Amino acid sequence: MQTIHPLADMTRWSNEVIASGSTIALVPTMGYFHEGHLSLMRLAKCLADRVVVSLFVNSLQFGPSEDLSRYPRDLARDSRMAADEKVDILFVPTETEIYALDFNTRVSVCSITDTLCGKQRPGHFEGVTTVVAKLFNIVKPHIAVFGQKDFQQLSVISKMTRDLNWDIEIVGHPIVRAEDGLAMSSRNTYLSSEEREQSLCLYKSVQHAKTRFDNGFTDAELLKSEIRDIILANSGVSVDYISVVDKDNLSDKEVIDSNSVLALAVIVGQTRLIDNYFMGSDTEISK
Ligand code: PAF
Repeated sequence: MQTIHPLADMTRWSNEVIASGSTIALVPTMGYFHEGHLSLMRLAKCLADRVVVSLFVNSLQFGPSEDLSRYPRDLARDSRMAADEKVDILFVPTETEIYALDFNTRVSVCSITDTLCGKQRPGHFEGVTTVVAKLFNIVKPHIAVFGQKDFQQLSVISKMTRDLNWDIEIVGHPIVRAEDGLAMSSRNTYLSSEEREQSLCLYKSVQHAKTRFDNGFTDAELLKSEIRDIILANSGVSVDYISVVDKDNLSDKEVIDSNSVLALAVIVGQTRLIDNYFMGSDTEISK
């Protein structure tokens, strides 16, 4: 595995790969790899000839009171893990190369960013789409792989890619869960053992939604209120949102059907965690 820092070197490498007739899959990340990231890398390897993993903690997608400064970072550990996955390139651009002092452009997707995490974290998705647009232009991938835990992010990036006519296939990978069911996230490292226990209310909610859906239950309001009870049974946990939305346009659903997604965001102690469930899909723990 080669590590590349300068943007120009990254684009030169991609141009050479493309000229040779090979395909590139990009896995954009903010690092501090866990099994979820490694699954994205493995999927990327199956889908393209060469795999680029980008590692950039994107300041633009963090709000002023969010966790940018304490976001976990360990480049040496990440490099070892990516090399073990036989990734071709670990692309680690610097902050000043991505955002020069006179950087004044934003890429913004309307409408589907007004709900769920977009509503709770103003400016977050504009930060995500701006950096992903830049990564697409620098790396020139044929395929880009993202995790479905950030299901709204995946929808927003897919929409941006279609709207801007990029010839890039956007691929989602199912949520990867720890043995206890907690969806893998770099932010799980913030949790104390008590908070970790409490955060399992997310997986319990997902399992509850599956059971309800499998038994023909269709009342979204009632499901949300049942899930609120499951979550608030834990004293240290508060609800950011509990929503049932259409998987294509993210509008609220009153009647649950196979196009519906349960989307959850909770705060456990100081840590914001998200999870979701596509009605009718499996909830089993896949690694
Ligand atoms: O999902 C993430 O880790 C980030 O939002 C992404 C897509 C790498 C953009 O910074």
